[in-house]
Amino acid sequence: MIAPSILSADFARLADEAAAVPSADWLHVDVMDAHFVPNLTIGLPVVKSLRKATDLPLDCHLMIDDPDRWAIGYAEAGAYNVTVHVEAAADPVGLAKNLRAAGAKAGLSLKPGTAIEPYADVLKHYDTLLVMSVEPGFGGQSFMAEVLDKVRVARRLVDTGHLRLVVEIDGGINADTIEQAAEAGVDCFVAGSAVYDAADPGAALERLREQAAR
Ligand code: DX5
Ligand code: ZN
Repeated sequence: MIAPSILSADFARLADEAAAVPSADWLHVDVMDAHFVPNLTIGLPVVKSLRKATDLPLDCHLMIDDPDRWAIGYAEAGAYNVTVHVEAAADPVGLAKNLRAAGAKAGLSLKPGTAIEPYADVLKHYDTLLVMSVEPGFGGQSFMAEVLDKVRVARRLVDTGHLRLVVEIDGGINADTIEQAAEAGVDCFVAGSAVYDAADPGAALERLREQAAR
Protein backbone atom coordinates (compact mmCIF):
# COMPACT_ATOMS: atom_id res chain seq x y z
CA MET A 1 0.00 0.00 0.00
CA ILE A 2 1.07 3.59 -0.66
CA ALA A 3 -0.01 6.50 1.54
CA PRO A 4 0.99 9.87 0.07
CA SER A 5 1.59 12.48 2.79
CA ILE A 6 -0.10 15.82 2.27
CA LEU A 7 2.63 17.45 4.37
CA SER A 8 4.38 18.09 1.04
CA ALA A 9 1.16 19.17 -0.72
CA ASP A 10 -0.23 22.70 -1.15
CA PHE A 11 -2.29 23.29 2.01
CA ALA A 12 -4.42 25.90 0.22
CA ARG A 13 -5.56 23.30 -2.33
CA LEU A 14 -5.99 20.14 -0.30
CA ALA A 15 -9.07 18.87 -2.15
CA ASP A 16 -7.21 19.10 -5.49
CA GLU A 17 -4.09 17.56 -3.99
CA ALA A 18 -6.12 14.58 -2.74
CA ALA A 19 -7.72 14.26 -6.17
CA ALA A 20 -4.24 14.17 -7.74
CA VAL A 21 -3.56 10.77 -6.15
CA PRO A 22 -6.75 8.78 -6.91
CA SER A 23 -5.01 5.41 -6.62
CA ALA A 24 -3.64 6.10 -3.13
CA ASP A 25 -4.51 3.42 -0.59
CA TRP A 26 -4.57 5.90 2.29
CA LEU A 27 -4.05 9.66 2.44
CA HIS A 28 -1.51 10.37 5.18
CA VAL A 29 -2.27 13.46 7.29
CA ASP A 30 0.52 14.72 9.54
CA VAL A 31 -0.79 16.51 12.64
CA MET A 32 1.94 18.36 14.59
CA ASP A 33 1.55 20.49 17.69
CA ALA A 34 4.92 22.28 18.04
CA HIS A 35 5.37 20.46 21.39
CA PHE A 36 5.86 16.78 20.65
CA VAL A 37 7.73 17.86 17.52
CA PRO A 38 9.27 21.25 16.71
CA ASN A 39 6.78 22.03 13.95
CA LEU A 40 3.13 23.02 13.64
CA THR A 41 0.80 21.83 10.88
CA ILE A 42 -2.93 21.19 10.87
CA GLY A 43 -5.50 19.75 13.24
CA LEU A 44 -9.06 18.60 13.65
CA PRO A 45 -10.90 21.31 11.65
CA VAL A 46 -8.83 20.57 8.55
CA VAL A 47 -9.32 16.82 8.97
CA LYS A 48 -13.08 17.38 9.21
CA SER A 49 -13.05 19.40 5.99
CA LEU A 50 -10.80 16.94 4.22
CA ARG A 51 -13.15 14.11 5.14
CA LYS A 52 -15.84 15.85 3.07
CA ALA A 53 -13.45 16.67 0.22
CA THR A 54 -12.16 13.16 -0.56
CA ASP A 55 -13.22 9.53 -0.39
CA LEU A 56 -9.67 8.35 0.31
CA PRO A 57 -9.23 6.76 3.76
CA LEU A 58 -7.52 9.31 6.01
CA ASP A 59 -4.45 8.01 7.84
CA CYS A 60 -3.96 10.57 10.61
CA HIS A 61 -0.48 10.57 12.16
CA LEU A 62 -0.66 12.49 15.42
CA MET A 63 2.72 13.93 16.42
CA ILE A 64 1.24 15.58 19.49
CA ASP A 65 1.46 15.54 23.26
CA ASP A 66 -1.37 13.99 25.26
CA PRO A 67 -2.89 11.83 22.49
CA ASP A 68 -4.94 10.10 25.22
CA ARG A 69 -7.01 13.27 25.27
CA TRP A 70 -7.02 14.36 21.61
CA ALA A 71 -6.86 11.28 19.40
CA ILE A 72 -10.47 10.26 19.82
CA GLY A 73 -11.66 13.46 18.09
CA TYR A 74 -9.91 12.36 14.90
CA ALA A 75 -11.69 9.01 15.01
CA GLU A 76 -15.01 10.80 15.48
CA ALA A 77 -14.14 13.11 12.58
CA GLY A 78 -14.05 10.08 10.30
CA ALA A 79 -10.35 9.23 10.11
CA TYR A 80 -9.86 5.68 8.86
CA ASN A 81 -6.73 5.13 10.93
CA VAL A 82 -5.52 7.22 13.89
CA THR A 83 -1.86 6.76 14.82
CA VAL A 84 -0.46 7.99 18.12
CA HIS A 85 3.13 8.01 19.33
CA VAL A 86 4.01 5.52 22.03
CA GLU A 87 6.45 8.08 23.46
CA ALA A 88 3.52 10.44 24.13
CA ALA A 89 0.70 8.07 25.11
CA ALA A 90 0.06 7.49 28.83
CA ASP A 91 -2.14 4.42 28.29
CA PRO A 92 -1.57 2.98 24.80
CA VAL A 93 -3.78 -0.08 25.37
CA GLY A 94 -6.74 1.95 26.67
CA LEU A 95 -6.28 4.45 23.86
CA ALA A 96 -6.36 1.73 21.21
CA LYS A 97 -9.60 0.38 22.67
CA ASN A 98 -11.16 3.85 22.65
CA LEU A 99 -10.11 4.48 19.04
CA ARG A 100 -11.60 1.19 17.90
CA ALA A 101 -14.79 1.86 19.85
CA ALA A 102 -15.04 5.19 18.03
CA GLY A 103 -14.90 3.33 14.71
CA ALA A 104 -11.29 3.90 13.64
CA LYS A 105 -8.31 1.64 13.18
CA ALA A 106 -5.72 2.23 15.88
CA GLY A 107 -2.10 2.94 14.99
CA LEU A 108 1.01 3.07 17.14
CA SER A 109 4.13 4.91 16.03
CA LEU A 110 7.73 4.56 17.17
CA LYS A 111 10.38 7.27 16.71
CA PRO A 112 13.68 6.03 15.21
CA GLY A 113 15.30 5.70 18.65
CA THR A 114 12.38 3.85 20.28
CA ALA A 115 12.77 0.07 20.52
CA ILE A 116 9.87 -2.19 19.63
CA GLU A 117 10.57 -5.05 22.04
CA PRO A 118 9.05 -3.40 25.17
CA TYR A 119 5.77 -2.97 23.26
CA ALA A 120 5.48 -6.48 21.81
CA ASP A 121 2.42 -7.20 23.98
CA VAL A 122 0.80 -3.84 23.27
CA LEU A 123 0.78 -4.49 19.51
CA LYS A 124 -2.06 -7.00 19.62
CA HIS A 125 -4.37 -4.10 20.51
CA TYR A 126 -3.36 -2.17 17.39
CA ASP A 127 -4.15 -2.38 13.69
CA THR A 128 -1.17 -0.39 12.39
CA LEU A 129 2.46 -0.02 13.44
CA LEU A 130 4.10 3.12 12.03
CA VAL A 131 7.89 2.87 12.09
CA MET A 132 9.46 6.31 11.70
CA SER A 133 12.45 6.31 9.38
CA VAL A 134 13.27 9.99 10.07
CA GLU A 135 12.96 12.06 13.25
CA PRO A 136 9.31 13.18 13.10
CA GLY A 137 8.65 16.84 12.36
CA PHE A 138 9.56 17.61 8.77
CA GLY A 139 9.18 16.24 5.26
CA GLY A 140 12.07 15.81 2.86
CA GLN A 141 14.58 14.29 5.30
CA SER A 142 16.96 11.42 4.53
CA PHE A 143 15.92 7.82 5.13
CA MET A 144 17.47 6.19 8.23
CA ALA A 145 18.26 2.67 7.00
CA GLU A 146 19.07 1.53 10.56
CA VAL A 147 15.34 1.36 11.38
CA LEU A 148 14.99 -1.57 8.99
CA ASP A 149 16.15 -3.88 11.79
CA LYS A 150 13.09 -2.76 13.74
CA VAL A 151 10.90 -3.42 10.69
CA ARG A 152 12.29 -6.97 10.51
CA VAL A 153 11.49 -7.53 14.20
CA ALA A 154 7.98 -6.16 13.60
CA ARG A 155 7.53 -8.45 10.60
CA ARG A 156 8.57 -11.44 12.71
CA LEU A 157 6.23 -10.48 15.55
CA VAL A 158 3.35 -10.16 13.08
CA ASP A 159 4.07 -13.40 11.25
CA THR A 160 4.79 -15.56 14.30
CA GLY A 161 2.16 -13.97 16.56
CA HIS A 162 -0.45 -14.02 13.81
CA LEU A 163 -1.19 -10.37 14.47
CA ARG A 164 -3.33 -8.47 12.04
CA LEU A 165 -1.05 -5.47 12.00
CA VAL A 166 -0.18 -3.30 9.02
CA VAL A 167 3.53 -2.46 9.16
CA GLU A 168 3.88 1.09 7.84
CA ILE A 169 7.03 3.15 7.32
CA ASP A 170 7.27 6.94 7.27
CA GLY A 171 10.12 9.23 6.29
CA GLY A 172 12.53 9.43 3.36
CA ILE A 173 10.70 6.89 1.21
CA ASN A 174 11.51 7.43 -2.47
CA ALA A 175 12.73 5.57 -5.56
CA ASP A 176 16.11 4.90 -3.92
CA THR A 177 14.82 3.57 -0.58
CA ILE A 178 11.47 1.87 -1.13
CA GLU A 179 12.88 -1.46 -2.30
CA GLN A 180 14.96 -2.04 0.85
CA ALA A 181 11.95 -1.16 2.99
CA ALA A 182 9.77 -3.58 1.03
CA GLU A 183 12.38 -6.31 1.43
CA ALA A 184 12.43 -5.78 5.21
CA GLY A 185 8.69 -6.46 5.37
CA VAL A 186 6.85 -3.14 5.12
CA ASP A 187 3.17 -3.33 4.05
CA CYS A 188 2.40 0.38 3.68
CA PHE A 189 4.75 3.15 2.53
CA VAL A 190 4.19 6.81 3.41
CA ALA A 191 5.71 9.15 0.83
CA GLY A 192 5.48 12.93 1.01
CA SER A 193 8.08 14.74 -1.06
CA ALA A 194 8.57 11.78 -3.43
CA VAL A 195 4.91 12.11 -4.47
CA TYR A 196 4.01 15.78 -4.09
CA ASP A 197 7.27 17.32 -5.29
CA ALA A 198 6.81 15.41 -8.56
CA ALA A 199 5.25 17.11 -11.58
CA ASP A 200 2.63 14.34 -11.71
CA PRO A 201 1.93 13.07 -8.16
CA GLY A 202 -0.38 10.28 -9.35
CA ALA A 203 2.28 8.90 -11.71
CA ALA A 204 4.99 9.21 -9.05
CA LEU A 205 2.83 7.18 -6.66
CA GLU A 206 2.35 4.43 -9.26
CA ARG A 207 6.11 4.28 -9.92
CA LEU A 208 6.72 3.79 -6.20
CA ARG A 209 4.12 1.04 -6.10
CA GLU A 210 5.85 -0.80 -8.95
CA GLN A 211 9.23 -0.50 -7.25
CA ALA A 212 7.90 -1.79 -3.94
CA ALA A 213 6.50 -4.87 -5.69
CA ARG A 214 9.78 -5.80 -7.40
C1 DX5 B 1 7.44 13.55 9.09
C2 DX5 B 1 6.09 13.06 8.67
C3 DX5 B 1 6.08 12.37 7.36
C4 DX5 B 1 6.50 13.23 6.18
C5 DX5 B 1 7.30 12.36 5.29
O1 DX5 B 1 7.45 13.78 10.46
O2 DX5 B 1 5.55 12.15 9.62
O3 DX5 B 1 4.81 11.78 7.08
O4 DX5 B 1 5.45 13.77 5.45
O5 DX5 B 1 7.85 13.13 4.28
P1 DX5 B 1 8.93 12.55 3.27
O6 DX5 B 1 8.27 11.41 2.55
O7 DX5 B 1 9.23 13.71 2.38
O8 DX5 B 1 10.10 12.10 4.09
ZN1 ZN C 1 3.72 11.02 9.03
